Amino acid sequence: MRVAVIGAGIVGLACAEELVRCGHDVRVFDPDPGGGATRAAAGMLAPAGEAWHGETDLLRLGVASARLWPEYAARLQAASGVDIDLRTAGTLLVGQDHDDLQQMRRTLEVLATQGIAFQELDRREARAHEPTLSRVAGATLLPEDHNVNPRLVAEALLCLLGDRVVRARATVLDGGVAFADGTEFGCDAVVVATGAEARSLVPQVRPVRGETIRLRGADRPSRVLRARVHGETVYVVPRAGGEVVVGATEEEHASEPVATLGAVVRLLHAARTLVPGLESAEVVEITARHRPGTPDNGPLIGPHPAVGPVRQVLAVGHYRGGVLLAPVTARAVRAYVEGGDVPATVRRFVPSRFSSYGSGSLTPAPHGRVVVP
Ligand code: GLY
Repeated sequence: MRVAVIGAGIVGLACAEELVRCGHDVRVFDPDPGGGATRAAAGMLAPAGEAWHGETDLLRLGVASARLWPEYAARLQAASGVDIDLRTAGTLLVGQDHDDLQQMRRTLEVLATQGIAFQELDRREARAHEPTLSRVAGATLLPEDHNVNPRLVAEALLCLLGDRVVRARATVLDGGVAFADGTEFGCDAVVVATGAEARSLVPQVRPVRGETIRLRGADRPSRVLRARVHGETVYVVPRAGGEVVVGATEEEHASEPVATLGAVVRLLHAARTLVPGLESAEVVEITARHRPGTPDNGPLIGPHPAVGPVRQVLAVGHYRGGVLLAPVTARAVRAYVEGGDVPATVRRFVPSRFSSYGSGSLTPAPHGRVVVP
């Protein structure tokens, strides 16, 4: 089939690569490949650390995708020659004080009901696992929450896709996609993977601003730390080459995503309280991007219920989990494009689950078009 993928973040690129690998003729359109939420992402493959009450379907989807990652990473690395820095040392969920620890235990309640492995550590054991920590109240080891460098994943996928990636703004038409100069690309199917920008076509998607900070320093943790520090949530992610990613804010904010002094100060203060050795780290970069949030925090993966004859598949609304969910989304999108079977874990996230779709009352944004900025 001839397929247009609109949006070259990690989700769009993963869908495109999966379709190419399965023999389809694919083009990906985006004026700035890898430049959206993928650029800010810390790359945590962390279904357990992000588990919350009432979100067990999302947890199951995350676990299914996390299990695909080791093989997926190995294949991408072997095919592209790009080392994507997959780290499998697990994650420490840390409570700085006793209130923080109590809150952390609420996540553990969810994990216990789902049979997901974790190991609680007291103050002394936490410091033994991670000597860079300050005097924290306690921690939990999540042995299956790993991480990867999303910028390198995007680089690997871009390398595999080559000149199938077109740096252009595209709009969806009934028979394909069109460009600003009036030319068109006719195709059998369109995959919409435009992250927070999808809100012009999918009203359930809303922008949620996130800021991350890149540091460089020698005294950094050996594995990912996700923590509550006197009520502030923060994560500290070590990377190859001395880099440390500190994240992330989460603000309902529709205007252009910019980093604010208040948010940056709060994040850095929490990170330094957790890992005092970061005091002397160099500040390398501050990045703000929109995450694509949805009403139930789950992605929209599946046929667009309200659009014309071209088969249009949505892969949007991945909110905090775009990197984690990329492999499972790519497989499901291929199945939807080809008309194959999609596992029940993923079918739960069909766009039509929202009543505005089910009732047929949704009117797509002007003429059923989505614009990639
Ligand atoms: N998944 C981490 C974040 O969205 O900040």
